[in-house]
Amino acid sequence: MSVPRLSWVEKHKPKTLEEVVGNDAAKKDFIDWLEKWDERGKAALLHGPPGVGKTVLVEVVASKFNYRLIETNASETRRVDFLENVIKPAALNRSLFSSKVLIFFDEIDGLSAEESNAINFLLELIESSKVPIVMAANDPWAPHLYKIRDKAYMIPLHRIRPQTIVKRLRDICKAEGVKCRQEVLLIIAEHSEGDMRAAIEDLELLYSAQEDVNIEDAEKILSYRNVEKNIFEILRGATYASTLEKASLSLSSSEEKPEDLLEWVFENILHLSPKQWLFPALRYVAEADMLLKQISKNSAWRLLPIFYHKLSNAFLAIPQKNKVNFAFPSRIKERFKRIQHLKSLRELESFFLKELHVGKSVFRREIVPFLRFLSEDDNFRTRVLNRLSDTRLRELYNSIILRGEIRRRHT
Ligand SMILES: Nc1ncnc2c1ncn2[C@@H]1O[C@H](COP(=O)(O)OP(=O)(O)O)[C@@H](O)[C@H]1O
Ligand SMILES: [Mg+2]
Repeated sequence: MSVPRLSWVEKHKPKTLEEVVGNDAAKKDFIDWLEKWDERGKAALLHGPPGVGKTVLVEVVASKFNYRLIETNASETRRVDFLENVIKPAALNRSLFSSKVLIFFDEIDGLSAEESNAINFLLELIESSKVPIVMAANDPWAPHLYKIRDKAYMIPLHRIRPQTIVKRLRDICKAEGVKCRQEVLLIIAEHSEGDMRAAIEDLELLYSAQEDVNIEDAEKILSYRNVEKNIFEILRGATYASTLEKASLSLSSSEEKPEDLLEWVFENILHLSPKQWLFPALRYVAEADMLLKQISKNSAWRLLPIFYHKLSNAFLAIPQKNKVNFAFPSRIKERFKRIQHLKSLRELESFFLKELHVGKSVFRREIVPFLRFLSEDDNFRTRVLNRLSDTRLRELYNSIILRGEIRRRHT
């Protein structure tokens, strides 16, 4: 099991206020509220669609104004012991730390109506706290949250405008050293429906498959991603579900094929789980895997609910989850890369087929290795590169025959 590298969403998480783009009014509003806060002040509730920067705004503001941030997500907020032992002392300023403290309850809409313990705790805390409390929610309008809404200063955030998303994506491209076409960035931005997280995920997906992406590819891959979009919702649903039934309901509502869902869960659980719960969680994934093999071998599809149940157990086996942004399984990314590679190969093939009058199977079996061999010679290489009329063909020759040699030599 290799150590997963950081996703672009993680890697390019804003560290300064300037890097949190869009929603200028909300940024100002939140900072003003915090600066003017006194003990009688209410709590604040940042709300708006997912992926617009609610969480990261709180984190960045806290660090800029030197607050020690005590941050909890929905799964921690429902743990009464955690609330009593960690949050309460901090709120009543009985902590050992003399620095300013900001308490942050993220994703409070993850609390269901039945979790009145946690909700009541929040209400009392807002009344008695000696430090500012900020909350965030995608959907704060559920009836059971009305008392909290009542006590909170509401700060709405909105979808990010496509142009603003494009700008941020361009910065990320620059930092990653990939050359991105403006038109492709615009397609990503429009496709994201104002969700910056989704836009960055799409950007990474497209550019980890190949160096240059044209509009056609972008549209094709992103339309696949459209279906995938709600897999992220489904994973979040399972992660923050309070019961096995709810987690199971969330997973089984996925349109993914069970074997793909298994991959999604497997890859993401590695990030989600602190070490001490990884083993029990993975055991459930393994059981689900074995069960699925039996199910498909025997066409025993009526057993599928048990498969979802086992997968859900993996989430429930992790009482405290790491904060993560869910990511594409690497194997699904690999599949994209393969598709892209095959496409490039076909393109190059059709050029040489015309030039050399050979059949297709011959090309891959004999011409490719032969070209590779000949291309070790500088003169030959230069001659071929001169023959290849457009840049696209030169790039294909470079990536398929020279396996990226040109770039390596020039960098
Ligand atoms: N306004 C933004 N500016 C820059 N990056 C953003 C913005 N919103 C989201 N992101 C990116 O998406 C990730 C998730 O954002 P997050 O703050 O968790 O969104 P939310 O809490 O609204 O769902 C961030 O880590 C960051 O990489
Ligand atoms: Mg968030």
